[in-house]
Amino acid sequence: MTTRRVFLTGSNRGIGLALARLLARQGHTVFAAARRLRQARALRDLAAAHPGRVHLLALDVTDEAAIARAAAAVQAQAGGLDWLINNAGVLVRDERWDTLDPAAMQQVFAVNAIAPFIVAKHFVPLLRAGRQPLICQMTSVMGSLALTEGGGYYSYRGSKAALNMMSLVLAHELRPLGITVVLMHPGWVQTDMGGPAAPLTPEASAQGIVQVLEGLTPADTGRYLTWEGRTLPW
Ligand SMILES: NC(=O)c1ccc[n+]([C@@H]2O[C@H](COP(=O)([O-])OP(=O)(O)OC[C@H]3O[C@@H](n4cnc5c(N)ncnc54)[C@H](OP(=O)(O)O)[C@@H]3O)[C@@H](O)[C@H]2O)c1
Repeated sequence: MTTRRVFLTGSNRGIGLALARLLARQGHTVFAAARRLRQARALRDLAAAHPGRVHLLALDVTDEAAIARAAAAVQAQAGGLDWLINNAGVLVRDERWDTLDPAAMQQVFAVNAIAPFIVAKHFVPLLRAGRQPLICQMTSVMGSLALTEGGGYYSYRGSKAALNMMSLVLAHELRPLGITVVLMHPGWVQTDMGGPAAPLTPEASAQGIVQVLEGLTPADTGRYLTWEGRTLPW
């Protein structure tokens, strides 16, 4: 099996933690970023169980200086990167037309829509030295204009739709460099964000995501996919 060097944001809980655990178990080198490492107990346990293969990095994805430091650390340690998974995300509940809060909306856009591109800006030079390099943008079916029903979730839906659009632009720009960019909907997953009623466990979602990513080729760049490999409408 090919072992990869993977950088992953928001890896201290939910889908990110399940991905970090799965990739580590599969023998890959995981650069697991989280904004509060001191509180990231499960992640620290994972690093202790895989010495030299799971590296922890402190990263708030809205802090460009911290992103640059993380990229420099990965470069120094690994000399390049194969997969970048922009997983960190936030959701504001109970958002309706009469409760919209500009500060909360800006934070959601900063994390979900802008940060993945600033992370890419600093990690593309490392991906250029990677094998079958790939950027996976963790989006949502809620970013699909075609599938939108009902009200609410303005900033979450809007930020994921913006993520989708800008990822298509990135896919075009990075195609000549041989870097594949895909949008991934992880399913409705039992996490703090997805809630207990969700049908999928983080482990099942992570398993599906990694299987889909492993099967991709540069011809797949710009696709909007689910954890089961289905194509979603924009
Ligand atoms: N769960 C679902 O059903 C579902 C469905 C569709 C899409 N998604 C997407 O899948 C991704 C993971 O979701 P999840 O369900 O695992 O969510 P989650 O359990 O709420 O975890 C979110 C992760 O993002 C991190 N994060 C938030 N803001 C950050 C920041 N500024 N800097 C760095 N990390 C930050 C969190 O770190 P802290 O612990 O420090 O807050 C946490 O690790 C998200 O992009 C989400 O939109 C989830």
